[in-house]
Amino acid sequence: MKKWISIMMASFLAFPVLSGCGSTTGAPADSATPKAAETATKDDTADIVVIGAGGAGMSAAVEATNQGAKVIVLEKMPMVGGNTTRATGGLNAAGTKHQEAAGIKDSQQLYFDDTMKGGHDKNNPELVKVLTTKAKDSVVWLEEMGADLSEVGRAGGASVNRIHRPKGGSAVGPNVVTTLKKVIEEKNIDLRLNNSATEIIKGEDGSVAGVKAKDKDGKEYNITSKAVILATGGFSANQDMVIKYRPDLKGFATTNHPGALGEGITMAEKVNVNLVDMGEIQTHPTVVPDNGVMITEGVRGDGAILINKEGKRFINELLTRDVVSKGILSQTDGVAYLFFDDGLREGLAATEEYFNMGLVTEADSVEELADKIGVDKKEMVSTVEAYNKAVMAKEDKDFQRANMPIQLNKGKLYAIQVTPAIHHTMGGVEINTNAEVVGTDGNLIKGLYAAGEITGGVHGGNRLGGNAMADIITFGRIAGESAAKMVKQ
Ligand code: FAD
Ligand code: FUM
Repeated sequence: MKKWISIMMASFLAFPVLSGCGSTTGAPADSATPKAAETATKDDTADIVVIGAGGAGMSAAVEATNQGAKVIVLEKMPMVGGNTTRATGGLNAAGTKHQEAAGIKDSQQLYFDDTMKGGHDKNNPELVKVLTTKAKDSVVWLEEMGADLSEVGRAGGASVNRIHRPKGGSAVGPNVVTTLKKVIEEKNIDLRLNNSATEIIKGEDGSVAGVKAKDKDGKEYNITSKAVILATGGFSANQDMVIKYRPDLKGFATTNHPGALGEGITMAEKVNVNLVDMGEIQTHPTVVPDNGVMITEGVRGDGAILINKEGKRFINELLTRDVVSKGILSQTDGVAYLFFDDGLREGLAATEEYFNMGLVTEADSVEELADKIGVDKKEMVSTVEAYNKAVMAKEDKDFQRANMPIQLNKGKLYAIQVTPAIHHTMGGVEINTNAEVVGTDGNLIKGLYAAGEITGGVHGGNRLGGNAMADIITFGRIAGESAAKMVKQ
């Protein structure tokens, strides 16, 4: 328990953007709106209440407002963004102009097939169809508001380069959160920070009638509305809830923000919402032990390799997260080292954060690096030589890695120790393709919508890197549009 708390604290401190001090990758995303203090304690009305101001909630709020609805957004934390602010690697989409410009041959069918295969075919194929056909529109939608998703990289389990990120390889989350927050301000949407939803109110006919909320002083008030959109994210930071569904994950650290506690799921259960895939919880393979800082999959996607304490590679680094996590856990002490060079660092701005945090060991030669990290020197030298030869030969005879974009021999050499940590809760509220919520009796709950990590079904048994960002923006927009349509009826 003690270890979990200290990891959560370290993880909170490691991400300055969350505490409002800004970051190298994005502008501060957390200034309180004056409205919060003025209106919070009074009962109120809206067409739609959105619960949670992460990527899904803010997308839903913007889209519903575009469709003419009056929206109130409740956010329990003192800043917007949730886990979305932490997103680093990028957002998947097939058939974008950016892929075309880079000569990448992709298709929505290939994206669909990769997603289903990555999820062990446990995904709801109808939801995956929506995700994989509409993600490219989400890229256009975000870019029209000012986001930058112009660079395309490789993520684990993807057959081609498909993960969209800002130019220079900086983190995607701060870019998207800053964009959405700016639009929310421009549109004068009623966003209430430090305000938690505590209960979904249903009318006598069983349809949604609003929410109960608490302001920053703990005072309760009600908001009457015809529709509620649940966008409260996942529950990776709630150790009890994780263990309830996955006892084997006891003691693992998490990459998540401290607010990822799953209250949305609890609220939903109280109004008889059906939950799916709750045991499907993903670990991210490359997280710094003891502080929960995730090292983006983009590091491997851009060319890094994993080396064990014996100085050897042990896996195709770009297999899916479940496979790579298992691979690392079966090495000595359950850890591995990400190995990369200046060539990689120069192309992936997101790595600078790791240097700033003091997480990287650096050296001028493989021998020196091996000594510094305590890895078998002879083996590590021969591993790196063999890998660089494989890059030249375009064939990885040892592990059949298809994507080997660079040799690792330019400038300084780097290593970061990593181990898996709890990253994404793939189960949650059951929705249909309109983001309408399904009840335990199989019927839709009128007026209740959900989007983002609170939902289940999109990712099946294992989520691919980049698919959560695609999911939250795509289904966030759909939830906003569907709810706005309903309240107009
Ligand atoms: P969140 O962004 O977590 O937002 C939910 C919000 O709801 C939070 O602000 C929370 O405080 C609020 N909330 C919760 N309960 C209440 C309540 N009762 N009342 C009011 N507000 C409430 N995915 C990718 O696709 N690509 C990536 O590169 C990527 N990188 C990641 C890196 C890290 C370190 C992490 C942790 C995740 C990453 N993911 C990535 C996953 C992805 O970021 C998340 O799945 C996604 O952002 C979730 O979005 P969301 O809007 O559903 O939830
Ligand atoms: O490794 C990462 O950048 C995380 C990506 C994701 O969770 O999709």
